[in-house]
Amino acid sequence: MESQILTVDGNQWDAFASDAGWISAAEDGKVLYFPQLPFELSPAEQALLRPELLRQGVRNISRDSKGQLKGVAGDETAQAQVGAMMARFASQATTLVDSLLPEYSQYLRAAPTSLRPTQVSTRRQSWRADDRRLHVDAFPSRPNRGERILRVFSNINPHGEPRVWRVGEPFVDVARRFLPLAHRYSPAQARLLNALHVTKSLRSEYDHLMLQLHDGMKSDMRYQRESAQVTMPFPSGSTWVCFSDQTAHAAMSGCNMIEQTFHLPVQRQYNLQASPLAILTRLAGHTLI
Ligand code: SIN
Ligand code: FE
Repeated sequence: MESQILTVDGNQWDAFASDAGWISAAEDGKVLYFPQLPFELSPAEQALLRPELLRQGVRNISRDSKGQLKGVAGDETAQAQVGAMMARFASQATTLVDSLLPEYSQYLRAAPTSLRPTQVSTRRQSWRADDRRLHVDAFPSRPNRGERILRVFSNINPHGEPRVWRVGEPFVDVARRFLPLAHRYSPAQARLLNALHVTKSLRSEYDHLMLQLHDGMKSDMRYQRESAQVTMPFPSGSTWVCFSDQTAHAAMSGCNMIEQTFHLPVQRQYNLQASPLAILTRLAGHTLI
């Protein structure tokens, strides 16, 4: 299998003059890996990164673009420090994407920034929620009708622990394997789920098929073991970027990662034919949204 990870040198968040090779790699679902691009923390910020930072019962800390912070335990000072650190990451992640993929800039919508202080390897979850299984991102309650999910990750572990991912086969291979096994789309069921507010909007056939790929991959242990994949330990102090609705990925271990998601209208890609929507539409042979 051709490598699904492209290493990009450089240590300035704003200095990656856009490059056609990187753009097409990202839009083909590869991971852009920046080994020399740390998200720098002050000693005081590093000291915050302890499990006790997380409010009981929550998995992640989040901060939305209005500055609303959720999930932090601790006094006002800790809250302010965490908020400032996450705002800085949001800004650097935006700078990075703007310099790599300038045509996207005015169309990106930033999701809340996410800080993940828990250890992934020991988290207990149902198979469907278990991100240690290879999957493409698709969310049952949030149909997106093909809108892209672009994510910037930095490993900020203060003790040098890598964040270990597995990166799987190209999306087209995932789709060729799991599409024939997918349950048929039912418009009536989609309307019912919407009426019951199980979904936030009407689940399109595209959304249905993406969930079928997500579940098909995660529920198939043989696929998990035997499909083409590489294990990639992202070192502490590194950054990586991918379209997580397209890159087959699994997070195996690590703790203390910070992440920024952006949503991009699918028609704003450089290559319209490369999107999961375009690939699934070609394979299905009819429109999906
Ligand atoms: C995921 O998107 O599946 C998890 C990524 C991570 O926690 O490293
Ligand atoms: Fe994921």
